Amino acid sequence: MTLTADSLLLFGATGDLAQRMLLPSLFALHADGLIPPQLAMPCTADGELTSDDFRSLVGAAIERYLPAERRRPGTAWDFLKQLRYVQLDASQPESFGVLSKALGNGGTRNIAIFLSTAPSLFSPTIAGLQYTGLTGERARIGLEKPLGHDLASSRVINDAVAAAFPEERTFRVDHYLGKETVQNLLALRFGNWLFEPLWNASGIDQVQISVSETMGLEGRSNFYDDAGALRDMVQNHMLQLLALVAMEPPAHYNAAEVRDEKVKVLRSLRSIDRTAAATHTVIGQYGAGAVDGRLVPGYLEELGKPSNTETFVALKVHVDNWRWKGVPFYLRTGKRLPLRESEIFIQFRQVPHSIFEDRGAVVQPNKLVIRLQPEENVSLLVMAKEPGLDRDGIRLREVPLDLSLTSAFAGAPRRIAYERLLLDLIEGDPTLFVRRDEVEAQWAWIDGIRDGWVFNQMTPRLYPAGTCGPSAAIGLTERDGVSWHD
Ligand code: BG6
Repeated sequence: MTLTADSLLLFGATGDLAQRMLLPSLFALHADGLIPPQLAMPCTADGELTSDDFRSLVGAAIERYLPAERRRPGTAWDFLKQLRYVQLDASQPESFGVLSKALGNGGTRNIAIFLSTAPSLFSPTIAGLQYTGLTGERARIGLEKPLGHDLASSRVINDAVAAAFPEERTFRVDHYLGKETVQNLLALRFGNWLFEPLWNASGIDQVQISVSETMGLEGRSNFYDDAGALRDMVQNHMLQLLALVAMEPPAHYNAAEVRDEKVKVLRSLRSIDRTAAATHTVIGQYGAGAVDGRLVPGYLEELGKPSNTETFVALKVHVDNWRWKGVPFYLRTGKRLPLRESEIFIQFRQVPHSIFEDRGAVVQPNKLVIRLQPEENVSLLVMAKEPGLDRDGIRLREVPLDLSLTSAFAGAPRRIAYERLLLDLIEGDPTLFVRRDEVEAQWAWIDGIRDGWVFNQMTPRLYPAGTCGPSAAIGLTERDGVSWHD
């Protein structure tokens, strides 16, 4: 049986992710009484701070990043005093001795460790944890992306982790898996009889997954310029969404079975080889433009140097298995697009025969739109007859059957994805974490695309900030007679 951790050891505690997401999420869990009040939380970084300095920093981060209705000022101090700052040079294993002290009887506790550091520090950190005896059977480790920049480098990281933590104690984070609507996708597919009989190539015509962002580099230029949209967003979040849409029903909702089904999909992705790269992918880079009514500089200006990194990518993907034979999955993501919006769009097939044709009515195929953000809602577009006596023909119109999760569950707090993931890490449930075989299947497929880009000397096409990406992305779907759902 997995035991709930009694210590959470956070590395990279003064970094951007920890301050914006992890610590506010931990506070929110604490305020709702969801983490044990005695949970020890040593937080490490290399800066020289006292625990009180660190607590002030975290207090300010909570104020800044947690929505007002979730702050509960009265409980802040209770939480902050559970935090303890430990200055540590993660590149020096010998310096890890201080942790045993911070953890009390470190070797015998149930420890959840979370690495929110640069991946270059993963190996030395793990060496340090080993050196201090913090990798025993009762320790588990959470790792934040990027886990490598290609298959080979991700294997190096995975090997380094595996040397100290077996797979069942390794929790690879993809924060999209902590999002409420992503969970809801499973509820929709497997909690209803309605969709599953049609959820295949006979019932579905095409699928689109779009993650559109308005922001640009936001101070992450070095990281982003090395990554680009394909590695930053498609390799992880979008492929995980695709896997959840396309997977077979697992027999049970547990870590082994859900991940077994996802990995089968990831291994069934048709490779986009050197020939297909030019026809099945479009890459773009934003130039200057206007977003949210504000003028913004182009990518190169923000970066301050020449670069061929893509800030937009659109792909036509196939899942080569029985269920999905011939169904295109169109994926698109980019920065500095007009709206912050993520959705999964499923277009069902046309009815086999229209009884209304002689009466002049046009029947549109049904569509299911699963909106992840900014608002969570699910909308099923169905055909309905316009009211009237129909003397001059029947008119059918597409109307939405809307399920707004925000209003249907108005009383429930909207949680940060990391709240769920941190709690799962503390409680030891790996269902929503990414297994090594999944990450490696993802990288293997992504590496093929990047090889095609290099081979074809593809460079990103310019799109003005605030537009929907390069026009070639429209061509990608229009060639198949399909339009992006906007
Ligand atoms: C991160 C990427 O993984 O996801 C960022 O590194 C991106 O570039 C972010 O902005 C998007 O996450 P969300 O939850 O805001 O859609």
